[in-house]
Amino acid sequence: MSDKKATLTLEGKDAIELPIYSGSIGPDVIDVGALTSQGMFTYDPGFVSTAACESQITYIDGGKGILLHRGYPIEQLANESDFLETCWLLWNGELPTKEEKEAFVDNVTMHTMVHDQMNNFFRGFRRDAHPMAILCGVVGALSAFYHDSLDITNEKHRNISAIRLIAKMPTLAAMAYKYSVGQPFIYPRNDLNYAENFLHMMFSTPCEEHKISPTLADAMDKIFVLHADHEQNASTSTVRLTGSTGANPFACISAGIAALWGPSHGGANEAVLTMLDEIGDVSRIDEFVARAKDKNDPFRLMGFGHRVYKNFDPRAKVMKETADKVLAELGLEDDPSLAIAKRLEQIALEDPYFIEKKLYPNVDFYSGIILKAMGIPTSMFTVIFALGRTPGWIAHWNEMIGNPYKIGRPRQLYTGSAQRDFVPLDKR
Ligand code: CMC
Repeated sequence: MSDKKATLTLEGKDAIELPIYSGSIGPDVIDVGALTSQGMFTYDPGFVSTAACESQITYIDGGKGILLHRGYPIEQLANESDFLETCWLLWNGELPTKEEKEAFVDNVTMHTMVHDQMNNFFRGFRRDAHPMAILCGVVGALSAFYHDSLDITNEKHRNISAIRLIAKMPTLAAMAYKYSVGQPFIYPRNDLNYAENFLHMMFSTPCEEHKISPTLADAMDKIFVLHADHEQNASTSTVRLTGSTGANPFACISAGIAALWGPSHGGANEAVLTMLDEIGDVSRIDEFVARAKDKNDPFRLMGFGHRVYKNFDPRAKVMKETADKVLAELGLEDDPSLAIAKRLEQIALEDPYFIEKKLYPNVDFYSGIILKAMGIPTSMFTVIFALGRTPGWIAHWNEMIGNPYKIGRPRQLYTGSAQRDFVPLDKR
């Protein structure tokens, strides 16, 4: 916060002084709260220039390609930390001590099973239901199973809910997959780490234990870390907005999952693979690049561009290195759709349209490629994003609930009819 002020001069009215606040790093913000008393609101569709809250969790400098969680660069967390440590960091603000980490990992591991009644809940879905539809439903339904910890004003309850969400999300995600392929649900194993356990629940069957490759488990963990948080993106803002009404954490995360599903947000990793399939062959890339550049064609190159990163996506860099390792391990360097992806990346990075508009491959471009190589069906890609983003969502929710906050209630520029009298049906 600072003593700086901005002066706004409105035609025919006295100038208004608006306080300017400075964060620890990043752009200053102008507090426009005083405008309401003048009968005016700011107008910023898409919240392009609007800070909706104060936060200490994540910082992004899109111009420089910087992403920090609690001050730590994402590259360092992805390469030197792991997902559960990152979860702790996001929630608590500091890296855990050795003892804290051991206790946290143990706590999460001990909560990975879901209530047995949950199995019946799954069975109500059609087998061909999209796993994101299932995830929205089952995560929201967790509030029906855990009445004991729904007092959001109680810090202990918030902590228990956070542990439950982090611990059960892989189990629920894998159950959604198993249900869709008609295989029995696989119970978590307490001797495996978080990423290994997810791969085990996805790929083991009662007849055969899945052999977990350390390279693939490490890649999975990196995917989770790289998705863990991304400040006030659409789904996190949805979680905050939902939470601002006092809704329970499971309902809030379910709302976040719904927001994540769209192809402009978390659905992009699935859309990347659908697009690669549609392109079908390297010879057709030029045609699709031309379509992406055509203003009259709604087609966009999925996995390219970002609202905030206008230089490069630092997550994409780590993801690309991970993709190379996974493809080498699986001997898939010559896979046809991966060949299309590589060529597409090369063309887009050299094409003036993409360079001028600062459209670089984003995290979803490479994560889609890794997940496909691992044998994970495309419909599960956004589910995996949701799993990874859960610690970010709950950390933001907790930060809001743990501090003074108001219900989120945007205003509007109304352009509909002025007041008019109702016309009875026989007079219309
Ligand atoms: N392909 C072709 N043109 C594009 C693309 C693209 N992927 N992305 C943006 N543009 C063009 C767009 O047509 C516009 O052109 P013009 O200025 O001539 O009208 C210009 O670039 C700016 O686009 P915008 O839609 O105003 O930018 P935005 O900041 O509102 O949108 C975005 C960001 C991510 C929604 C968009 O780049 C996009 O749709 N990308 C494809 C979907 C995708 O990969 N999404 C995942 C984002 S990363 C995961 C996450 O954090 O959620």
